[in-house]
Amino acid sequence: MKAVVFHGVGDIRLDDVEEPKIQDPTDAIVRLTSSAICGTDLHMVRGTMAGMVAGTILGHEGVGIVEEVGPQVRNLNVGDRVVIPSTIGCGYCMFCRRGFYAQCDNANPNGPQAGTAFFGGPQPTGPFDGLQAEYARIPYANVGPVKLPEQVTDEQALLISDIFPTGYFGADLAEVEDGDTVAVFGCGPVGQFSIASAWIMGAGRVLAVDKDESRLEMARAQGTEVINFDEEDPVEAIFNLTGGIGVDRIIEAVGVDAMSSRTASTGEVTEGDFQEELNRVAPETNPQGDTWVPGDAPPQSMVWAAQAVMKAGVIGVIGVFPPQAMTAPIGIIQQRNLTIRGGNCNHRKYMPMLVGLVATGALDPTKILTNTEPLTSAIEAYETFDRREPTWIKVELQPAA
Ligand SMILES: NC(=O)c1ccc[n+]([C@@H]2O[C@H](COP(=O)([O-])OP(=O)(O)OC[C@H]3O[C@@H](n4cnc5c(N)ncnc54)[C@H](O)[C@@H]3O)[C@@H](O)[C@H]2O)c1
Ligand SMILES: [Zn+2]
Ligand SMILES: [Zn+2]
Repeated sequence: MKAVVFHGVGDIRLDDVEEPKIQDPTDAIVRLTSSAICGTDLHMVRGTMAGMVAGTILGHEGVGIVEEVGPQVRNLNVGDRVVIPSTIGCGYCMFCRRGFYAQCDNANPNGPQAGTAFFGGPQPTGPFDGLQAEYARIPYANVGPVKLPEQVTDEQALLISDIFPTGYFGADLAEVEDGDTVAVFGCGPVGQFSIASAWIMGAGRVLAVDKDESRLEMARAQGTEVINFDEEDPVEAIFNLTGGIGVDRIIEAVGVDAMSSRTASTGEVTEGDFQEELNRVAPETNPQGDTWVPGDAPPQSMVWAAQAVMKAGVIGVIGVFPPQAMTAPIGIIQQRNLTIRGGNCNHRKYMPMLVGLVATGALDPTKILTNTEPLTSAIEAYETFDRREPTWIKVELQPAA
C-alpha cells in the first residue's frame, strides 16, 4: 500500500509498504478514506520534535472503514465508518477512566511514564505507524474510534480526529467562561478551532494573533479582532484593546516552531535565548531553501502570552513543545499570579460530543479545510503547507484518490 514514510529530518517519501495486520485482540484494521497533514507533523520533519524512527508512517488524523477486528473488539462491525482519535488510550487504566486518555498507563509500549501514545510520532510516543496511508492498525480499537452517523461527512469527521477536539481542549484548559475576553495565539487550523471553541464556551470577545494574513482573515471571518504581530506589538495591542487590563484567558496554539516578530518587543527574552533553546529542542535540522525551516523563537508566543493575559489570568497551552524545551517565562508567571495549564489533547473525551454537535448542523468544521489532495501528491502538499503558502491552512489527503 502507499504511505507517507519518515526517512530523516527534512526527508519524507511516498513509499510502497506492507499492509498492517492485527497484532493484539483489541486491534482493528481501518481502510482510510480521509487523512490530513497537521502542524505537529511539521515539527517532526523540521526536527523540532526529535526522536523519529526512520521507516515510521506519518500522520495521526484519519477517517475510514473498519476492515477487520480482533476478537476483543466487541463494539465495532466490519464496514463501520469511524473517526480515529490521534492519541491512543486503553480505556481501563485510572487515567483513561478520568478522561486523561493522553496520559494512559498502558498504550505506550515505553511504559506508564513515557508520555502520550499517538499515531505517527517519535520513538518515545510508541512509535506507532500513522494514518497517512491506505490502511492502518488501530490499537485499543474497542475504545478509540467513534462511529459516524450518516449526516456527518468524512471531511467533517476528519477535523474531529485531532484539531477540533484540541481547540476545544485549549478552551477547556484556559477555563473560558461566559463573557470572557479570550486571546488565541496562532491562527493555524488548531488556533481556528480554539477560536470556534471559545465562542461555544460563551466568550464575549475573542482576539486572534498571527502574522499570516490569510490565517488572520479566516479568524476575522469567525468574528475575532485580529492582531498581526509583524506589524504591531501584540502585547501592547492587547492592552490597548482591553482598557489596560489584558485578556482574561489565552489559548496558546503555536508551540515550539514559534517565530519572532519583525517589529515587536521580544519581552524578557533575547535572541541569544531563542538560539540556545533552538539548539536544545532541535539538535538536528535539515532546511532546504525555505522548506523545513524551524521557527526561530521557540518561547516567543509563551512569553507574549504571559505578558498579555491579565494579572491572575489563565493560559491554556496546546501548542506542542518537546520535553527538551526549558525556556518558560516562569518569572512572569510567578510574579503575576498566573495559572498555566497545558497538555496533549485527550481526544476521546471530547469526540463523541463534537460528532454530535456537527451532526446537528450547528457548526460546520469544513470551513477550516482549505485543500484536498490525493495521497500520491502528499510530499508536495507537505512542502507547500510547511512554507505556509497563502490559503494553505488545512490539507486533507485522500488515500483512494
Ligand atoms: N496539544 C495537542 O494535543 C495538539 C494537537 C494538535 C496540534 N497541536 C499543536 O498545536 C500547534 C498548532 O497546530 P497547527 O496545525 O495549527 O500548526 P501551524 O503550524 O499550521 O500553525 C501555527 C501558527 O502559529 C503562527 N505563529 C508563529 N509564531 C507565532 C507567534 N510568535 N505568535 C503567534 N502566532 C505565531 C504561525 O504563523 C501559524 O499560523 C502546533 O504546535 C501543533 O503541534 C497540539
Ligand atoms: Zn494533528
Ligand atoms: Zn489507559
